[in-house]
Amino acid sequence: MEMWPTPRRNQVLDTLVLLGIVLVLINLYGVESRKVRVLDAFDYSAIGSSRKYTASLTDFGGVGDGVTSNTKAFQAAINNLSQNASHGGSLLFVPPGKWLTGSFNLTNHFTLYLHKDATLLASQDVSEWAVIDPLPSYGRGRDAEGGRYISLIFGTNLTDVVITGDNGTIDGQGVTWWDKFHKGELKYTRPYLIEIMYSDEVQISNLTLMNSPSWNVHPVYSSNIVVQGLTILAPVTSPNTDGINPDSCTNTRIEDCYIVSGDDCVAVKSGWDEYGIKFGMPTKQLVIRRLTCISPFSAVIALGSEMSGGIEDVRAEDITGINSESGVRIKTAVGRGNYVKDIYVRGMIMKTMKMVFWMAGNYGSHPDNDYDPNAIPVIQNINFRDIIAENVTMAARLEGIPGHPFTGICISNATIGLTKEPKKLQWDCTEIAGVSSDVTPQPCNLLTDQGPENACNFPDSFPFPSINI
Ligand SMILES: *[C@@H]1O[C@H](CO)[C@@H](O)[C@H](O)[C@H]1NC(C)=O
Ligand SMILES: *[C@@H]1O[C@H](CO)[C@@H](O)[C@H](O)[C@H]1NC(C)=O
Ligand SMILES: *[C@@H]1O[C@H](CO)[C@@H](O)[C@H](O)[C@H]1NC(C)=O
Ligand SMILES: *[C@@H]1O[C@H](CO)[C@@H](O)[C@H](O)[C@H]1NC(C)=O
Ligand SMILES: *[C@@H]1O[C@H](CO)[C@@H](O)[C@H](O)[C@H]1NC(C)=O
Ligand SMILES: *[C@@H]1O[C@H](CO)[C@@H](O)[C@H](O)[C@H]1NC(C)=O
Ligand SMILES: *[C@@H]1O[C@H](CO)[C@@H](O)[C@H](O)[C@H]1NC(C)=O
Ligand SMILES: *[C@@H]1O[C@H](CO)[C@@H](O)[C@H](O)[C@H]1NC(C)=O
Repeated sequence: MEMWPTPRRNQVLDTLVLLGIVLVLINLYGVESRKVRVLDAFDYSAIGSSRKYTASLTDFGGVGDGVTSNTKAFQAAINNLSQNASHGGSLLFVPPGKWLTGSFNLTNHFTLYLHKDATLLASQDVSEWAVIDPLPSYGRGRDAEGGRYISLIFGTNLTDVVITGDNGTIDGQGVTWWDKFHKGELKYTRPYLIEIMYSDEVQISNLTLMNSPSWNVHPVYSSNIVVQGLTILAPVTSPNTDGINPDSCTNTRIEDCYIVSGDDCVAVKSGWDEYGIKFGMPTKQLVIRRLTCISPFSAVIALGSEMSGGIEDVRAEDITGINSESGVRIKTAVGRGNYVKDIYVRGMIMKTMKMVFWMAGNYGSHPDNDYDPNAIPVIQNINFRDIIAENVTMAARLEGIPGHPFTGICISNATIGLTKEPKKLQWDCTEIAGVSSDVTPQPCNLLTDQGPENACNFPDSFPFPSINI
């Protein structure tokens, strides 16, 4: 049964009012408001975020025919619902249909909920995309100097925002953007699908994202973020279609995601060279678990290359990489400054990989020529354990910065099976220092063999409170 019938407005409002009253009563009696599903209203169990007021996009003139622009309907709906922010929050329901739209902005204490048969189609009309300032920690756009097109779903300076659904779809229709990128026709940097800036308590869950013009999910300068249950799909040759990019964020949990992409599945970042150093906001306390990634030309998890605010205390666990270029990759360069430290990886299964381990201190790529040649990034305390890989071309390429080695690298209990035509040199190590235990094929001498059963560290519990929003 469809849970949100074609709304006759009064009926819907009546239901909403009734729902509101019941919610208040239920709260009074101390029962979890989630149990309100007996009412046969649509079931949105967005974690802990039952909202007091709900509305449908169709209440604001939305038309789900795949042709009519819904930009104004989204903007009007969210403007209207923003009035409810301090009265228990609100939820905007997107019913079954194809909803063409340009960019819109989210509001506080707000849930955007996509029905499983709802698809947001990103508008191809460039005038539907405002141009906003470059990120202060990057100094310029990634594709072009200066500004950037605002993301399809954008939010800034918010508290408590949820983007979720019963696996509804957001389709970026990125092909026209990819063409422009390849032809060098972009005046500004391409939009992302979802960007949340300067916000606290953010949840993005149970959606399918496809064909993003560029990055898919970009939380930046934010804290207490949960990204859960996303399916992210893009052609493996599409440019810069990174899956999830936590950027200068604190307390982020990414879990149960399946990503096929043309760039890194998860790319951890914190700003670019002198701009990132000046902004000075690290990414820290990040958990990535139960991730499955296919990325033939990029990494399952990348740290960097933009890491100039620092990256620290990352835990990755139960990670599956298939047909990908590398597993966990560290990318940095002279000029980046700051650090990548206290990285813990446990439990990776990989099939058909060019490389399992890859660290590079010479990634290059600078915003301009004003980067500081004395800003040397420190790469330290990087731990991997319980790794199984099959059909690998090369075990590891580990290259620190000349005169500034990457230190404290630990690899234990790693079994790497090779392809029929593997590289002759399996471990290519320069300017690094560390230890290994129980690793095949035999690591380079710079990773001193500790003998069997010297497991690398993986701290037992996360050193930050669990996020419950
Ligand atoms: C996402 O879907 C899963 C499985 O269907 C469900 O258990 C979970 O509660 C959902 N999460 C959210 C935030 O809705
Ligand atoms: C907000 O939406 C409700 C329901 O459609 C409507 O009654 C109200 O007039 C709207 N408020 C404004 C300020 O548009
Ligand atoms: C939410 O906003 C609507 C429209 O302004 C208003 O009628 C309603 O009373 C508000 N609900 C709450 C719970 O504040
Ligand atoms: C959304 O927010 C951005 C940044 O604050 C702003 O530039 C843009 O105009 C807003 N868009 C709308 C439709 O209000
Ligand atoms: C958002 O927060 C940042 C950091 O606190 C602040 O610099 C900026 O002015 C705020 N922007 C808006 C639109 O409030
Ligand atoms: C969500 O939809 C995608 C695309 O159709 C599908 O691959 C995935 O299995 C679905 N996820 C869930 C939890 O149903
Ligand atoms: C080595 O890794 C495998 C695969 O993750 C795991 O099953 C096994 O328990 C690990 N062995 C030790 C001694 O930790
Ligand atoms: C092993 O990897 C090679 C590429 O190095 C690939 O062509 C081949 O299909 C893979 N074999 C299996 C069984 O996956």
